[in-house]
Parts: sequence; structure tokens; C-alpha cells
Amino acid sequence: MTIRAVVKGVGHYLPERVVPNCEFEKTLDTSDEWIRSRSGIERRHFAAPDQTTSDLATRAAEKALESAGLTGADMDAIILATSTADFTFPSAATMVQNAIGMTSGFAFDVQAVCAGFVYALSNANALIVSGQARRVLVIGAETFSRLMDWTDRSTCVLFGDGAGAVVLEAEIGGGTSTDRGILSTDLHSDGRYRDLLYVDGGVSTGTTGVLRMHGKEVFRHAVEKLAETAHAALDKAGLTSDDVDWIVPHQANLRIITATAQRMKVPMERVVVTVQDHGNTSAASIPLALSIGVRRGQIGKGDLIVTEAIGGGLAWGSVVLRW
Ligand code: UT7
Repeated sequence: MTIRAVVKGVGHYLPERVVPNCEFEKTLDTSDEWIRSRSGIERRHFAAPDQTTSDLATRAAEKALESAGLTGADMDAIILATSTADFTFPSAATMVQNAIGMTSGFAFDVQAVCAGFVYALSNANALIVSGQARRVLVIGAETFSRLMDWTDRSTCVLFGDGAGAVVLEAEIGGGTSTDRGILSTDLHSDGRYRDLLYVDGGVSTGTTGVLRMHGKEVFRHAVEKLAETAHAALDKAGLTSDDVDWIVPHQANLRIITATAQRMKVPMERVVVTVQDHGNTSAASIPLALSIGVRRGQIGKGDLIVTEAIGGGLAWGSVVLRW
């Protein structure tokens, strides 16, 4: 008998404003062709001036709760993965807690940049398995448009805003890899690579700052580390690539997604790809892809899913779960 953290509901929210690649041609020396061929991105959503990360997170949370047939009052905890919280403090998670009418339990943010949702899932799993919480709302939400240097064509065309959420609930499983729920997690970080991807502002500078990235270097680490962590997580669950129904990867670059699937020997027909429609939404990208994968009819009950992500830190990791 094993306690498993099982997904009971999923949902997402994307801001209304859609910005196609051609918009950037007006202000930058770039082209739709370059952005598509180098990243796979065709469009992205940007939050309205009065929309914050916690607003996006709340909309996604409400949809996930609705799909689970539960309310905020039913939750024991909220973990919100974000690097773009509305304020330095309090956490965006407590703002969502208030917005969804949850007056007990606890809520906190997790900051692991693009790997944030994988870190948040892993933390939620630990809370559930250890008996500290029975139901946890896990959210990834970002407004990366607020961190862009609009004169830097190598970064500002890549990112977008959005949010996704899942409701996890404790269920008793048989302790085998046929159980539903989270089966294994694998997390890593290596601070030696902090200069590859960072924001040049914060409390120490008195500014919000803008995103800086050595794209080629991050790309190289991503291709190498993502397949490695996904294999490690599968191995911990006693599974192999052959057992995988869906890879639900972090959506940063179609070339990274394809290279990782190739290394894992999983055909692209078994990979959920949303990067063309949303760009890189950092911690929101995996829950967005999970929600859209379900809506498209790709992901179904009992499917074996591997999620993997890498981002600033560097921080990376993978979670294996049965839907
Ligand atoms: O989610 C967090 C993790 N982040 C990632 O996973 C991102 C990882 N990196 C990448 O996805 C890719 O490295 C990029 C999409 C960022 C860039 O693709 P690339 O194939 O590595 O291109 P590059 O940086 O080597 O640039 C090639 C050329 C350069 O020109 P030169 O030096 O060859 O003359 C760039 O200046 O493309 C130029 N370039 C652009 N040209 C038109 C860079 N950005 C643009 C642009 N439009 N927007």
C-alpha cells in the first residue's frame, strides 16, 4: 500500500492578446522565418497591462478546480511555480489562495525558473506522500513579457505569458508502476551556470531587470540534460522509454523538444507540442501543455507521462506520472 499523488483536475489560462512573429519585424532586425525555423514559435500571448501573474494563476486554478469538481476550500495547500510573482512579497500563491476563497491550509511560491513546475510537482508529491497534505493545487504561472529587453532580438521573440494548474489528491496505490499518480521525480541544479540565463535586476540592484541569455550554451545543456533526467526518473519508477505514452516537455524550442525525444527514442507522435502557439512560458509551459494535451484528446486516463524541463540556475528535472 502506497500513497500516490493523483491528478484530479487540470486547467489553463492564456491572456487574450496574441502576438504573431510578424509583429517583431516592425521594430527589430528579425523575421517570422528566423523565429519559426530556430525555435518553432509562431505566436505568443501577452498579459494586459493590468493583469498580473497571480491573476493568470487564479484563472488557471479555477479551471483546474472546476475540472476536479472541487473548490478552493477543499485544498490543503497551494504551490505556485513562478519567477514573475506580482511583488517581492507576499507570495503570489497567497494571492491566489485569497482569490479562490481558501482560508485555511498554506500556500507558497517555488522559484526554479523554467524548471519551476517540475520542482513544484515534486514538492507537492512529497507533501502528499508524507501525509502533510491530502489535496494540493500546483500552478505554473508567468508574465515573462515584463522581463523582456525589447531591443534584444535574441530573447524577446522567444517568451510569452500564461498559466496552467493541476489538482493533486492522495490516493492509495498498490506500490507498482501501474498505479495512477506521481511515480518518480528527479531534480537537479548547478549554480556554476548562473550566468547562462538570468535577470539582471532584483533586490540587490533596486530594479526589476531584464532577461539575459546565452542561448546557444543553454541549448547545449538542455539537449544533454533533459534526456538524462527523464531516463533517471523512468529508471527510478522501474520503467523505460518504451512505456512512455506522452512526453510533456518544457516548451522552449522545438529543436530541443525534438532532440530530446530522439535521444529518448520516443517518436514525435508521442510528444505534446504547444510551443508554436505560446512561445516559452517558463514555469507555465508544462501545465499548459498538460491541459491542452487533455483538451486535444491526446492525454487520457492511465497514460504514462514524462515531463522534463530546464532553465535558469541552471535548474532541471523530470517527473514521471500516470494520468
Ligand atoms: O526555457 C529556458 C531555457 N531556454 C532555452 O532552452 C533556450 C535555448 N536556446 C535556444 O532556444 C536557441 O539557442 C535560440 C533560439 C535562442 C537561438 O538559436 P540558435 O540557433 O542557437 O541561434 P544563435 O544564437 O546561434 O544565433 C544565430 C544567428 C546570430 O547571428 P550571427 O552571429 O550568426 O550573425 C544571431 O545574432 O542568429 C542571429 N539572431 C537572430 N536573427 C534574426 C539571434 N536572434 C535573432 C532573431 N532574428 N530574433
